[in-house]
Amino acid sequence: RVHSIAAIAGDGIGQEVMPPAVAAVDACGRRHGFTVDWTHYDWGSQRYRETGYLMPEDGIEQLKRHDAILFGAVGAPDIPDTTTLWGLLMPMRRQFNQYVNLRPVRHIAGVPSPLADPAGIDIVVIRENVEGEYSEVGGRGGPDGDGYAVQASRFTRDGVTRVAAYAAELASRRSGTLTSATKSNGILHTMPFWDEHVARVAAGYPDLKLRSVLIDALAAALILRPRDFDVIVASNLFGDILSDLTAALVGSLGLAASANLNPERAFPSLFEPVHGSAPDIAGTGVANPAAMLYAAAMMLDHLGETDAGTALTEAVDATLRDGPRSRDLGGAASTAEVAAAVTDRLTRA
Ligand code: NAI
Ligand code: MG
Repeated sequence: RVHSIAAIAGDGIGQEVMPPAVAAVDACGRRHGFTVDWTHYDWGSQRYRETGYLMPEDGIEQLKRHDAILFGAVGAPDIPDTTTLWGLLMPMRRQFNQYVNLRPVRHIAGVPSPLADPAGIDIVVIRENVEGEYSEVGGRGGPDGDGYAVQASRFTRDGVTRVAAYAAELASRRSGTLTSATKSNGILHTMPFWDEHVARVAAGYPDLKLRSVLIDALAAALILRPRDFDVIVASNLFGDILSDLTAALVGSLGLAASANLNPERAFPSLFEPVHGSAPDIAGTGVANPAAMLYAAAMMLDHLGETDAGTALTEAVDATLRDGPRSRDLGGAASTAEVAAAVTDRLTRA
């Protein structure tokens, strides 16, 4: 079996966590009988500084032939974040219709957390990934265009239905309880619409319990009673915020991975850490590669290499539990030392 993968390391620590992921996936391949045909793309902020574009004009076309995309991060202090995000990541998510953003977190025994008792936290945030609050609809107006700004959110029946169906399916296979993040008391049009369609989809799963929780209360409850939650479905903005929160609960943003899925497989799906380019630590070799390695494991699962995906996940779990640990987790190990420990466990297992 040969899998064709597009690797886009991008900016900052994206460059530092991509090589460990490539090495780990190749080690899995040797062990589990597949090879990966890697194509590395130098897209990102440096290319923008040189050419005015983060990716070439036919970039989306180039990516279409791959089985999956492994992505690092994009963002640089000297370029507006709207330029970098909308110039690279957003076009991929949207043009490849990756409407499910799957963001799982689990607490690993021994990993420090801001909570006194994080044991047993196991949460999957499913973020709607192509519509909602992240829209191009709106603008500025008033005197000199400085009087007001309007940003429209657009939710469609089909858009809510398909992400809710994915979440209901997953929740049915797990705990049987699905939590939906809402704000239908304050947001007049979109959130009641979200609630109605999520409830309609959930009603199609007779054994599924649906809880609709206001986003503000949900944020607090996640900190106070994290073990009450299993699968959470949320809009683009709410899911973005909740998934950084859940990542923090299990110890670090450096542990949280995400899959941007096109469930119909009409286009390649994209796998990436939840974290960004971390300019504050970029270039110092201390970034935690765990999030990126978990993302690579999710990619292997998606490619049907489930034994390899499980092996990689378990090797990262064991390294987090027994060390060496990186600085964000209170340890002293470098990116390379953590990565070597994972690859070592993979080849010894
Ligand atoms: P960030 O995730 O890059 O960093 C937040 C904090 O977490 C920093 O203190 C950083 O050092 C720490 N951190 C993140 N990942 C870590 C890791 N693997 N190991 C150890 N520590 C880690 O978020 P921030 O600072 O808000 O954004 C920086 C840039 O990244 C911005 O330009 C932003 O737009 C971009 N960004 C890009 C994303 C993407 O490409 N998907 C996602 C989030 C932010
Ligand atoms: Mg985010």
